[in-house]
Amino acid sequence: MKVAPSLLSCDFAKMGDEVIRIDKAGADLIHLDVMDGHFVPNITIGPAIVKAVRPYTELPFDVHLMIDYPIDYIDAFADAGADIITFHLESMSDPNLTIEKIKGHGIKAGVVIKPGTPAEAVFPYLDRVYMVLVMTVEPGFGGQSFMADMMPKVTAIKAEAARRGLDILVEVDGGISDKTVYAAAEAGVDIVVSGTGVFKAEDPAEAIRILKSAD
Ligand code: DX5
Ligand code: ZN
Repeated sequence: MKVAPSLLSCDFAKMGDEVIRIDKAGADLIHLDVMDGHFVPNITIGPAIVKAVRPYTELPFDVHLMIDYPIDYIDAFADAGADIITFHLESMSDPNLTIEKIKGHGIKAGVVIKPGTPAEAVFPYLDRVYMVLVMTVEPGFGGQSFMADMMPKVTAIKAEAARRGLDILVEVDGGISDKTVYAAAEAGVDIVVSGTGVFKAEDPAEAIRILKSAD
């Protein structure tokens, strides 16, 4: 299992140091949650912050856009140093155009689905994305409970990708801990996002090690 700690649960006043701390603790990617106060009822970070923390690690930046019009901000997040940009299929932007715009920057594209959106919604885009992110909480806030009933969607997406001979990573986001990571692993998840589970742990390196060992 690969682990992408979410900076949403870090100390925002010390973000650079937090990135260094979590890199040293064994993170595989850094997950950055972008919220606009419209698509979700919370406001977090924008391209300026992504750019500011970029020099603190060489780990890939996995930028999760929870915004109404992702296509309008792809250039800014790509320029800020994103390596992967994921956006919601429930947003207002055309998915194919948004995927093209992301890939036009030479970076990886992914689509995200909220808990209420069926797995089949991602099928038309499977041949052009690097990753599918299946939300295991309602997007907007850290520290919520893992929705185990999202795992059949993971299984369905992996099965459809395999049927078409596509190598697609599936990531889950929300409520991942040493208790819930096994259900994700069982379903075939490749990457888990973890905010509170890693940043609020007494020993983040140990928390990451446990998550990584789930396979
Ligand atoms: C929620 C965000 C998540 C969040 C996960 O909208 O997309 O990335 O940080 O936090 P935890 O791991 O605490 O559920
Ligand atoms: Zn996220």
